[in-house]
Amino acid sequence: VNELASAPLGVFDSGLGGLTVVRALRAQMPHESFIYLGDTARVPYGTRSHHTVTRYALGCARVLMKHKVKALIVACGTVSAVALDALRVELDVPVIGVIEPSAQLAVKLAQGQRIGVLGTNGTVASGAYPRAVAALSTRSEVVAQAAPLWVPLAEEGWLEGDVPRLAAERYLQPLLAAKVKVVILGCTHYPLLIPVIQEVANRLSGEQIPVIDTGVAVAQAVELFLADRQRQALATAPGSLRAYVTDMPASFRDVAERFLGSPLAHVEQIDL
Ligand code: DGL
Repeated sequence: VNELASAPLGVFDSGLGGLTVVRALRAQMPHESFIYLGDTARVPYGTRSHHTVTRYALGCARVLMKHKVKALIVACGTVSAVALDALRVELDVPVIGVIEPSAQLAVKLAQGQRIGVLGTNGTVASGAYPRAVAALSTRSEVVAQAAPLWVPLAEEGWLEGDVPRLAAERYLQPLLAAKVKVVILGCTHYPLLIPVIQEVANRLSGEQIPVIDTGVAVAQAVELFLADRQRQALATAPGSLRAYVTDMPASFRDVAERFLGSPLAHVEQIDL
């Protein structure tokens, strides 16, 4: 009946971190099918200029458009922060980034108190979170902190012990000193470190600090969006996942499971 309902959702990221977002999307909507693109040839995006990130993001998006996706989900925190408007202008499909849904959830939880944001250098420098929060609340202020070391730690699988704990203390200290009451993990990789981040945040503040996974926030937003437009997949069979990368498919597959939470059977290499 509804042709768009059976179309896949497109998801892209600078590399493999976006699989944490796919994990949350699939948990929320097990009947949806996904096409994932990781731009592993050009990762990282978090240290590049707005101009370059936007150009790369448009290249990724055009590949997914060829698969007739019913919506495009920008898993990458950096792309969501700097290139969302350009993608929305350029593409003839709904584009959903991770920032608005996370900001909405944070504003609700913060109740007018300060909100902490952790992300790449690019995400923090963009000011996208302060803008998104200001559009929703005149009371909550945003305190942002770049946490670049968590990206290689997550890729390395170094998720416990002194090194991640000390990095978490270093990155969380300024936020908690500023009395934030909620922390947004504004980068694809950080959800892998949630246990250590949560432990350090609670210990340093002496309170329970809610930690927001942007994948979980965007999954709720995508589900609402599809329901609203009556574009949900029929609940007849589990959805599929196809992954494409621009370099190193074998090593991508090896590390993918840690981010996705389940094995990734098929990964194909493509050129943009
Ligand atoms: N995917 C990026 C993000 O969420 C992190 C890795 C990178 O810098 O490309 O911001």
